[in-house]
Amino acid sequence: MAEQGFTPPTSEWYHPAPELVANANVPNYEEVCAQARQDPQAFWAERAETLSWYKKWDTVLDDSNAPFYKWFVGGKTNMVLNALDRHVSGEKRNKLAFIWEGEDGAEVTLSYWRLWQEVNKFANVLRGLGVQKGDRVTIYMGRVPEIVIAMLACAKVGAPHSVVYGGFSEQALASRIEDAQSKVLLTCDGAWLRGKIVPLKDTVDEACSRSDIVKDVIVVKRTGQAINMQAGRDHWYHELMALPHAKPEAETEIMDAEDPLFILYTSGTTGKPKGVLHTHGGYQVYTSTTLSWAFDIKEEDRWWCAADPGWITGHSYIVYAPLILGATSILYEGAPTFPEPDRWWQLVAKYGISILYTAPTAIRGLMRFGEDYPDRHDLSSLRLLGSVGEPINPEAWRWYHRVIGKERCPIIDTWWQTETGGFMITPLPSVALKPGSATRPFPGIEVDIVDEDGNPVGVNEDGDLVIKTPWPSMIRTVYGDDERFISQYWQKYAAQGWYLAGDTARRDEDGYLWVIGRNDDVLKVSGYRLGTAEVESGLVSHSAVAESAVIGIPDELRGNVIYAYCILVAGAEGSDELEAELKAHVRHEVGPIAVPKQIEFVESLPKTRSGKIMRRVLKAQALGQPLGDLSTLED
Ligand code: WTA
Repeated sequence: MAEQGFTPPTSEWYHPAPELVANANVPNYEEVCAQARQDPQAFWAERAETLSWYKKWDTVLDDSNAPFYKWFVGGKTNMVLNALDRHVSGEKRNKLAFIWEGEDGAEVTLSYWRLWQEVNKFANVLRGLGVQKGDRVTIYMGRVPEIVIAMLACAKVGAPHSVVYGGFSEQALASRIEDAQSKVLLTCDGAWLRGKIVPLKDTVDEACSRSDIVKDVIVVKRTGQAINMQAGRDHWYHELMALPHAKPEAETEIMDAEDPLFILYTSGTTGKPKGVLHTHGGYQVYTSTTLSWAFDIKEEDRWWCAADPGWITGHSYIVYAPLILGATSILYEGAPTFPEPDRWWQLVAKYGISILYTAPTAIRGLMRFGEDYPDRHDLSSLRLLGSVGEPINPEAWRWYHRVIGKERCPIIDTWWQTETGGFMITPLPSVALKPGSATRPFPGIEVDIVDEDGNPVGVNEDGDLVIKTPWPSMIRTVYGDDERFISQYWQKYAAQGWYLAGDTARRDEDGYLWVIGRNDDVLKVSGYRLGTAEVESGLVSHSAVAESAVIGIPDELRGNVIYAYCILVAGAEGSDELEAELKAHVRHEVGPIAVPKQIEFVESLPKTRSGKIMRRVLKAQALGQPLGDLSTLED
């Protein structure tokens, strides 16, 4: 059951300009693919050679305990060695790493040297609090420069970070703290969003009151609003950074290539958060290669990945890969349409941004305001555009291409996942495009589209998207739950040893890939990934709700919106007031992105005889479509 459906315009071609191809970091896609296919391990080893290692690896790939693959085994490194340490002794030292703009127009620039010093200082602060290699640190912050500093400092001391997106609320935060068992948490007093303050610290207080796991909370002052500071537990960031031991030099922990770099919780098919684990070695090789080749990063580029650092897109392509490449990135606080719908175009013109990478939902949102807003600004610095997070509908693609890119900038539509760490299906700038297709796999990546038995489906037929061979930044496990790692990704095609992506896709007559949408209980709402189970558990945590089922309904702007069905407890009455109350409850418990658009009160839910809710049936009913095979329906 795919989330979205559109008819692919499979014959509409866009060819890149010859100069762009000639100057691209990888001018010939086919050639590099052939090279990778011939000897994948030699191919990845060559990429790893471009980075710094304390000690080189003994084995490129250890597949003896598949699917627990290991990369660059025996290698010693640290993400920060490549992202910062090696730059400060070289020519990047005074180059800008980040340009940050706050929603209030405040500006902060960080050169590589300055960033390195700030990271060192904060690494010393963490060590001062007793944080050691292997300890998990939770980060729940707004989009301020300190979030980047915090992530890098964690990597530096070898403490895996778990960044929880600032749009999540109490229950989501509490369950992630619990799963990671992190004793230290970083937050802000609040975050600015559309002129209002998101009270992050209040949510932290509530989440921490649910258990006594967190011992130290570090608070960055951003809004200056009054907050509760609990003596003994809460510390101001700026005060810690002023302590004598917060010196601007710090040792970088020497890590095994396979030591964890971070845990990032993502949505799966149960309500329990799923901690996707990535490691130092393979992840740095893969993210830096993909960014360099797909977005063609050059010395003089100004790269803007407009995502939030709290999602994988931000981890890989705001924080880590751009720094490894020594690029200059833009980081902004706020929203695309505040204070005016031209905030983004103003940013592009002001900072001379040359590459913009965002999500279809943002493009559709900006498209609604018409062409006048972008036309008021000089967008001539742009040379490449990117898309991620959900299928981009051809109409939005064409608008992005024509109005923003002035028909000059290729659109790099990257398909990937939290679990893959980096781009898996994406054009390189030299590849001809079709609007809505992520084109073909990245060099070294083998994908297929197969039926339930693992046979490749025919041209333009839908099937499961699978990845057939291991890659360096692949998920290593679900944190603390190896069984779930296997059952979720490897069980379905265990005989073949393939990774199951959870997406439905098709391949057209030119071999181009079209990702249609999720085929499991994961929803994409405005590009955000949410589990139906997360929303459902938010609903049933309200005393009036006995049971609930949630589905995604296609929506022009947001990709999908949430419809919820609730069975109430005996004695409770469905009403408009209760619907409003439940929406507020979900907002508070899970977060604003999880709020259902509509809640329907029902007497029963369609279930299989084994008791599984048939969301497919609910969805077909909501869309007025045929209900399909009902033979497993209980009632
Ligand atoms: C979807 C985001 C179509 C897909 C990086 C995938 C896409 C899920 C695209 C992962 C794209 C991501 N075209 N669909 N270019 N990019 N998706 O983990 O359904 O938040 O499985 O990672 O987003 O979402 P996640």
